[in-house]
Amino acid sequence: MTAWLNRIYCEDVLQGISRIPDGTIDLLIADPPYGLGKDYGNDSDKLDSAAYLRWTEQWIDTALPKLKPTGSLYIFLTWRYSPEIFVMLKQRMTMINEIIWDRRVPSMGGSTRSYTSVHDTIGFFAKQKGYYFDLDAIRIPYDAETKKARSRSIFVGAKWLEIGYNPKDLWSVSRIHKEDPERADHPTQKPLEIVERMVKASCPPGGVILDPFMGTGTTAVAAQRCGRNFVGFELNPSYCEIVTRRLASPEGQLTVQSNQPSEPVRAKITDIAKGKRDRKKKKDLEKTQPDSDQQTLTFL
Ligand SMILES: C[S@@+](CC[C@H](N)C(=O)[O-])C[C@H]1O[C@@H](n2cnc3c(N)ncnc32)[C@H](O)[C@@H]1O
Repeated sequence: MTAWLNRIYCEDVLQGISRIPDGTIDLLIADPPYGLGKDYGNDSDKLDSAAYLRWTEQWIDTALPKLKPTGSLYIFLTWRYSPEIFVMLKQRMTMINEIIWDRRVPSMGGSTRSYTSVHDTIGFFAKQKGYYFDLDAIRIPYDAETKKARSRSIFVGAKWLEIGYNPKDLWSVSRIHKEDPERADHPTQKPLEIVERMVKASCPPGGVILDPFMGTGTTAVAAQRCGRNFVGFELNPSYCEIVTRRLASPEGQLTVQSNQPSEPVRAKITDIAKGKRDRKKKKDLEKTQPDSDQQTLTFL
């Protein structure tokens, strides 16, 4: 009955999705072709605008019935089609968030007749109000330095300091560089850090995640690392092989025993916090080195 669990089907999602019974999926993570002409070794991203939107509506209507009533959907898009597709989805689900993924593209070159686009637009939708969402699983821990800075008695035992802060809707996570150990041979592979956050927040432990467009299998790897089940589809057989390899490698093994950010993810998040603190320290230092008149006043 659950022969379809923890499998990647190397086929067109529209053909294979009927294997999955309706109402069995906790979380749908969809990272479809963007409609920008990317080369996935097939023609899936080469549709014209009208055909792309027709196809999008078709897969959405095939995939949404698979969700449980408590289920939700994250969809990766760019500014080009997010307005049309968000409207499509808002007619079928409740929109919870628009998340901006800042890919932290370094400042080199870029567009000369427009602003350089450096973000993905991620839609977060729920089937109904009582959707599953575990905020504590994705809180960002304060580092030791911040905790120490808040060690005055008024902060002692403060719950927020112990449990960390809740992520905002701007996610600043570097895209996967050529040298990144996570990197596989795919033009639009997503960072595990992003997908793991979705998994921990929106799929209960032991639950099931459907990804209709697996690519290199980031969703499957994140699910396996976090103790969730997955099922997915991918047209390109070479990408299917990458998924199998990633799932069998150390990267794909269960790492998250509790619902806490795993070490590499936490390290990256801490880096961002540290960068912010360094900038603040620099500003504070500039403030404490005023011209000599002001310094005299301070000491009077
Ligand atoms: C944006 S990529 C997904 C990348 C993935 N999230 C990752 O991290 O590697 C979209 C993928 O969908 C696949 N694809 C396109 N049309 C498909 C279809 N009808 N059924 C299954 N897969 C499809 C493409 O081959 C491509 O690898």
